[in-house]
Amino acid sequence: MEEKIKKYIEKNKQRFLDELFELLRYPSVSAAPEHRQDMVNTAKHVAQKLTDAGASHVELFPTQGHPIVYAEKIIDATQPTILIYGHYDVQPPEPLELWQTPPFEPTLLDGKIFARGACDDKGQFYMHVKAFETMMQTNTLSCNVKFIIEGEEEVGSDNLAQFVNEHKQRLLADIVLISDTAMISLETPSIDIGLRGLAYVEVEVVGPNRDLHSGVYGGAVANPAIILAKMIASLHDSNNHITIPGFYDDVENLTEEDRDLLNKAPFDEEGYKRDLTIKDIWGENGYTTIERTGIRPTLDINGIWSGYIGEGAKTVLPSIASAKISMRLVPNQQSEKIAQAFKTHFEKLAPSSVSVHVKVLHGAEPVVIPTNSIAYQAAAKAIQTTFGKRPIPVRGGGSIPIVALFEKILGIKTILLGFGLDSDNLHSPNEKFEVTNYFKGIETIPMFYRYFSEMKSQVH
Ligand code: BES
Ligand code: MN
Ligand code: MN
Repeated sequence: MEEKIKKYIEKNKQRFLDELFELLRYPSVSAAPEHRQDMVNTAKHVAQKLTDAGASHVELFPTQGHPIVYAEKIIDATQPTILIYGHYDVQPPEPLELWQTPPFEPTLLDGKIFARGACDDKGQFYMHVKAFETMMQTNTLSCNVKFIIEGEEEVGSDNLAQFVNEHKQRLLADIVLISDTAMISLETPSIDIGLRGLAYVEVEVVGPNRDLHSGVYGGAVANPAIILAKMIASLHDSNNHITIPGFYDDVENLTEEDRDLLNKAPFDEEGYKRDLTIKDIWGENGYTTIERTGIRPTLDINGIWSGYIGEGAKTVLPSIASAKISMRLVPNQQSEKIAQAFKTHFEKLAPSSVSVHVKVLHGAEPVVIPTNSIAYQAAAKAIQTTFGKRPIPVRGGGSIPIVALFEKILGIKTILLGFGLDSDNLHSPNEKFEVTNYFKGIETIPMFYRYFSEMKSQVH
């Protein structure tokens, strides 16, 4: 069976690559209103490709935002059902001048595909479309499969949450399978067994009713930029702990054993610093880098602006200063509760000389994935088959909002079978996906189907 699959992939290699390139040419930036039509076009293209691959019931669901693509292939009601989730939307490509090749003109260089979305998540969800085609064409599809490919992951998946609530029956499955995370390397394959949650807020500090001459008024009127800087600076103490009251109340504390296990994953601190050209790492005292990005909550500024930012000097005391602030959450923190704790604290921090507004933008709940399940064992065995090594379980630092909701609304757990690399420049200029990883993924996915159905039938 493996031989048949390998042969089919080998024979169709060039076409599988060409098709991915075609998908990558769509500028499907979910955050940008001017790309609304591009989003529809991308969704239609994905739907067509699912039909071509052999799916039935392919449907495009319009939402208040961007369309959701749904498809399925039900082969046998007695076999398990896999729900594949992915997202066809991408992050804005800006700043464009930092790209070595244009973001929506995919370019193959040195075994890497450069394009926005190459890894996050077009390259990765398309592996599932091609793996499905491969199983259909080689007569090896052993599970029922449902696809749900959305266009709003990068903006919080609000409309998908509603869709899942309204289509519970249709989406029922034994497991959700997602390729939208990374592994350590081809030599050290890993599986993410966690995702962090997210609380995202935008803050505004408002001073005088207009920008002022900084000579005439400076020193006598509170400068919102200075006040905001001080407020933000006070959110971490000298140990880099977050100072919001109650912030750590619900944080899951791992046993020493579990911490030791996580820290067994290889981490090359010197290589990490070299890659980022930073002189030193930074973070919460008492925790390793692996822990800081996996099991500890964090607070970051994603953007901050105020006053004059054009060329040269303008003497001005700005009227407003703003920032976008995200907090990554770990089990058992709750996004809404943390956003509220932030709001209460931040409003209190402000001196009477300014007013403060906190707007909660969106959130996601954290996830942990058990490793003693049939699905995890099937995933580990699939990786072992194609990589020749047992994968290491690691806690991922990013967020995928719908994962916690699949569990909450549908009662279905997820397997994160990711084939990206941390160095793939997700959300950054020059995003890439290794060609090898793309084909490794297409090869590994059918193995998951096979082992999952085999192991499932053994327990029954
Ligand atoms: N694919 C990422 C999430 C990810 C990346 C998880 C790497 C683990 C490792 C996803 O597309 C993403 O970027 N999610 C956003 C959340 C969203 C609400 C904007 C994130 O994590 O910032
Ligand atoms: Mn993604
Ligand atoms: Mn992303």
